[in-house]
Amino acid sequence: MKSDSIHGMWSSRLMFVLAASGSAVGLGNIWRFPYVAGENGGGAFVMVYLACIFLVGIPIMVSEILIGRSARQSPINAMRTAAEASNATSCWQLLGWMGVLAGFMILSFYAVIAGWVLAYIFQLGSGMFTGSSGELAKSAFDGFVGNVWEVLAWFTVFIGITISITARGVSSGLEVAVKYLMPILFFLLVVLVIYAAFTSGHFLEGLQFLFSFDFDKLSWNSVLVAMGQAFFTLSLGMGAIMAYGAYMPKDASIVGTATLIALMDTGVALMSGLVIFPLVFANALESSAGPGLMFITLPLAFGQMAGGQFFGCVFFILVAFAAITSAISLVEPAIAWIVEKLNTTRLIAALLVGGCVWLLGLGSVFSTNIWSDVFIFGEMTFLDTMDYVTNNIILPLGGILIALFAGWILSSKIIDEELVADRWLYPIWQFLTRFIAPIAVSIVFIMALLQD
Ligand code: PFF
Repeated sequence: MKSDSIHGMWSSRLMFVLAASGSAVGLGNIWRFPYVAGENGGGAFVMVYLACIFLVGIPIMVSEILIGRSARQSPINAMRTAAEASNATSCWQLLGWMGVLAGFMILSFYAVIAGWVLAYIFQLGSGMFTGSSGELAKSAFDGFVGNVWEVLAWFTVFIGITISITARGVSSGLEVAVKYLMPILFFLLVVLVIYAAFTSGHFLEGLQFLFSFDFDKLSWNSVLVAMGQAFFTLSLGMGAIMAYGAYMPKDASIVGTATLIALMDTGVALMSGLVIFPLVFANALESSAGPGLMFITLPLAFGQMAGGQFFGCVFFILVAFAAITSAISLVEPAIAWIVEKLNTTRLIAALLVGGCVWLLGLGSVFSTNIWSDVFIFGEMTFLDTMDYVTNNIILPLGGILIALFAGWILSSKIIDEELVADRWLYPIWQFLTRFIAPIAVSIVFIMALLQD
């Protein structure tokens, strides 16, 4: 077991927790979770999602951290090293490659949505939604995303922020960012939940929507979406957590830390639901409004409420922070690999990766304007396709493969060394990783396919 990574190390277990929960908590929790829960009927969807987090997500997160920490390298090289040390074929490194590709694809649309968020900080702050009607909020959104130059500019700003943090390296870039942004984010979220609870008058309705189980609304496709959401929200199946695990201190318990991160992430998703749905119900808006939920319904709701201009602006600042701390983890696997492979600086690696993501992201930038009637599959635009394919196919597939590798292939010597602090949980982890995670993911895949 190597004791240090050439890329630097988190200065403590707490910093790893902040970084990994920074990766996990993002647009997936605040923008995506409420709208997919809304589209898929609320409570029953939330149940499946929670089951996926605990039975499939946590064991896979443990596997990723374990592999990363044992090799202390980028996911591509970590998979190769771990495979070689376990006398398995080095083809397993393809999994690392798949992760790098997924990271590019995800960030390419993620940065577009994050760009909208940056723009909305200013729009809400300017008071333009104060007292506005549904019509106005919708036409403001359509007008904004329909303007290619504006969307392109904010997307570019967001990629720029991501690159400038990652270029500074693990200690002075990533760690500094999460150290400040994450505590502020948690604080703002609590303030907003209290605000929604006291001012909307519909808090209980929000709670009920998230926790009442109407299983009739659940199809295999919504189970697939719930599972995809679980992978996406925990940043699993593509090596982001593996890359962060490579910088984790040796003595920290992996199972305990992974569970803590999953709990924090789930807490933030549910709390975001508890900010958004009471506001939606208070204003008699549609809970199943889709991706526009956060950008149309919320500004409208804030516009109707006391202090809405201020709290609305605060809300979008919070979302922007969450998006930044996730985006930096999406590019870390690729940046770390380039540094290892080309022996170059982080700055060059970060610029290279940022440039590629920017180019790929143009497809998503155009999806709401000049390419809004270009459909890739069915009714899906370029942006929708990137989102659907990564969340519902690549991440779960990467997750199954990681589980199979860690459960069946990885040498027990490596596992023993990494899980010393978690001895009694070892059999549970092994059972979930060997059987439950791969079987559950496969069943959901097959049933969703058959149903179509
Ligand atoms: N977990 C992030 C979110 O919920 O917004 C998104 C994400 C980050 C997915 C990093 C995958 C990843 F590797």
